[in-house]
Amino acid sequence: MAESASIEVAACRPRRLRRTTALRRMVRETVLTVNDLIYPMFVMEGTEKRVEVPSMPGCWRYSLDLLLTEIKAIHRLGIGAIALFPLIADNKKDNAGTESYNPAGLVPRAVRAIKETIPDMIVITDVALDPYSSEGHDGIAKDGKILNDETVAVLVKQALVHAEAGADFVAPSDMMDGRVGAIRRALDAEGWIHVGILAYSAKYASAYYGPFRDALDSAPKFGDKKTYQMDPANGREAFKEVELDILEGADIVMVKPALAYLDVICRIKQRTNLPVAAYNVSGEYAMVKAAAQQGWIDEQTVVLETLTSMKRAGADMILTYFAKEVALALQSA
Ligand code: PBG
Repeated sequence: MAESASIEVAACRPRRLRRTTALRRMVRETVLTVNDLIYPMFVMEGTEKRVEVPSMPGCWRYSLDLLLTEIKAIHRLGIGAIALFPLIADNKKDNAGTESYNPAGLVPRAVRAIKETIPDMIVITDVALDPYSSEGHDGIAKDGKILNDETVAVLVKQALVHAEAGADFVAPSDMMDGRVGAIRRALDAEGWIHVGILAYSAKYASAYYGPFRDALDSAPKFGDKKTYQMDPANGREAFKEVELDILEGADIVMVKPALAYLDVICRIKQRTNLPVAAYNVSGEYAMVKAAAQQGWIDEQTVVLETLTSMKRAGADMILTYFAKEVALALQSA
């Protein structure tokens, strides 16, 4: 018996399915496509301006005119969605993030222009105070603390301004308690029933956001974000956050960052029927770029492998600064 069992094991040859490219393609379980990609983009005031983010080579902040040109280009490559982040001048920042709900502000103007120029591009706007905050925090600060409910009231105004401008999704990235429900109720009350909520549900207090804060000049002026963003040590707590966001009306839930949290993506995917997004954040991008510039890794292969791992873990869509490169790579594949 033991002998025949071992003969059967010996006869089993997994390599048979890896013998040729065609065979590997046939049995491939996970396929990354351009449909999976959401491109985060930085917008700033001015005309004909394009400034590369030093810690994110290959990523630029664009003035609106050049942003539109770039969006047309990525649209031609088949990228269907962008997430928009603004660089706000220091003199427009205050502790209450007042500029965040200015109907004539940079984001609403950008959303309107994008929707006029490329109507079928899905536009996702970030809802949080940090780009507008003189303190560099996602909420209103008082005595060294971040106020929750007072912040939610401002986030609601911000979300309504984005909806009015034509955003397809608002994406609260602030991690205040109760903000998804408050935003959903306000959107519905104002008639924006078709505007979706992509919730940054499991957003960790991560050092991987460093380059993004360089891009927007939005690093916290005091303390850190650990009283609102999650502790990187916690996995079960991610599900608590996801569960609440679903109850409050989220349409898509997100895990952020992605690479160091693949287990969280995997666990959440098993427990919700909602689409799950993953954010391949700025620090993940910067590490790959830096190693590639040194000639230490092959950039394109590493990028495709990394993004495929996120899909394999359960991500239905991926926000990634590599979106354009990947779309190009997939076209020539
Ligand atoms: C702000 C926000 C951050 C990111 C997206 N929205 C930074 C932060 O929370 O400090 C990070 C994105 C990235 O690192 O690519 N609410």
